[in-house]
Amino acid sequence: MQTVVDLTRCQGYAQCVFLAPEVFELHGEEGLLYATAVPEDQVERVRQAAAACPVQAILLGEG
Ligand code: F3S
Repeated sequence: MQTVVDLTRCQGYAQCVFLAPEVFELHGEEGLLYATAVPEDQVERVRQAAAACPVQAILLGEG
């Protein structure tokens, strides 16, 4: 699975960093963060992070 953070939406709420720190990382004051292939053992955490993001900035895709 791949995850992408839509930086035009992200407001730096950091729920994603809290829920899946091995995947999401905050950079600097304004945020964020990225987007990478998600290891198998992190998929559920990333799904939770996507659901928890208040502005739906986390997009999930296959690949
Ligand atoms: Fe941004 Fe959503 Fe994470 S606003 S910091 S992608 S929880």
